[in-house]
Amino acid sequence: MPPHIAGREREKSAFVEGIGELTRSEEPQAILLVGPRGCGKTVLLNWCRNHALQSDRHIRVKEFTREVPTTMAGIARELLDNVFDVRFPDEIMARANVGIAGAEGKWNTEPSDMAVLEALIEQCGKSPLLLVLEEAADKNPESVGALFNLHQRINRETGNMLFVLAGTPRVMDVLRDSKATFSDRNRVLNVGLLGSEESAEAIAKPLRENRMSITEPALAKAVSESQGFPYFLQVWGKALFNRVLGEGTGKISLSDVEAVTEEVDAERNVTYATRYREWSANDRKILAEVLASIRSLENSDGIGEDDLLQVVAKTLESHEESNARAEKFAAKITETGCLWQPWGSNKLESGLPSFIDFVLDKSIEGKHAV
Ligand SMILES: Nc1ncnc2c1ncn2[C@@H]1O[C@H](COP(=O)(O)OP(=O)(O)O)[C@@H](O)[C@H]1O
Ligand SMILES: [Mg+2]
Repeated sequence: MPPHIAGREREKSAFVEGIGELTRSEEPQAILLVGPRGCGKTVLLNWCRNHALQSDRHIRVKEFTREVPTTMAGIARELLDNVFDVRFPDEIMARANVGIAGAEGKWNTEPSDMAVLEALIEQCGKSPLLLVLEEAADKNPESVGALFNLHQRINRETGNMLFVLAGTPRVMDVLRDSKATFSDRNRVLNVGLLGSEESAEAIAKPLRENRMSITEPALAKAVSESQGFPYFLQVWGKALFNRVLGEGTGKISLSDVEAVTEEVDAERNVTYATRYREWSANDRKILAEVLASIRSLENSDGIGEDDLLQVVAKTLESHEESNARAEKFAAKITETGCLWQPWGSNKLESGLPSFIDFVLDKSIEGKHAV
């Protein structure tokens, strides 16, 4: 968790509202956070969970971190087992009244899917459940669909379940493929770059709390270098904090910012390099051309996903490649944090502006080397 969560008021109040409804059995709608990597989705999910745990009413919290079962009953089994401590199969078998004679038969038979679901609904009726799903874009669409359907089913009967999930922009495709009844009532919140005031708070507030201060120009420089990318704000904040920790004055000025620039850049380069490595040598060239084209178009205002797809298709063709993989290529551009289209918007935004510069610089370097 960052020392201070800057901005994100809308997300926090959505969670507060959802958890309030949960405690009152008011069928809270699901909340989906969508945004590029490193923008703060996990931080917000943690905030939500902590908020739920502080509630007066005992809320059970389950986070699926690894594989999620692909059916409602499969999920229900896991929830009963490790959230509600309902032991299999005896308790449910007794309730399901399957009527198998003799102890042996009873122990060897799995309870039916319906019995499991009913048992879960009964448990949820007694105590509310917050279900958290991370990295939803990497999950099996069937699992995501089953979670949404389970959420609706439990809520219809008890009003006692809140489903909160987060994923990179690809999550919307997973949702589409999941065939879940994703009702319009569910909330989708975009989690992108932070504004400059919020960015300044992300750096300055933790310093203030440690009786340190930062001059206006020093703060402005660190903020502009971070480009609103939450992870970089933390890298800057930490470097500046460590720099003044040993000194008596506790005051950070522009010279301190300059002194840590090299160290910060090294860390930022690790981020860029990691993302860059996800592209093959051939695709890097195509990527650079696509990004350069998009940059040159950018002033003509409002470039959307469809335009990106067209640029990618054309660039692939100019490399004498089939444009059949244009869609996949464009999706990867989003996945590696270059450009994404927030839900409900028709304009592309940058996921990490300086990564685009990095890609373009590399391509120029490459040309010089040739
Ligand atoms: N609102 C915020 N204010 C300050 N720092 C943040 C904020 N959100 C995220 N961070 C920092 O950014 C980094 C990435 O956050 P994380 O939640 O892991 O992103 P994601 O899950 O979207 O990839 C972490 O170092 C985190 O501390
Ligand atoms: Mg995350």
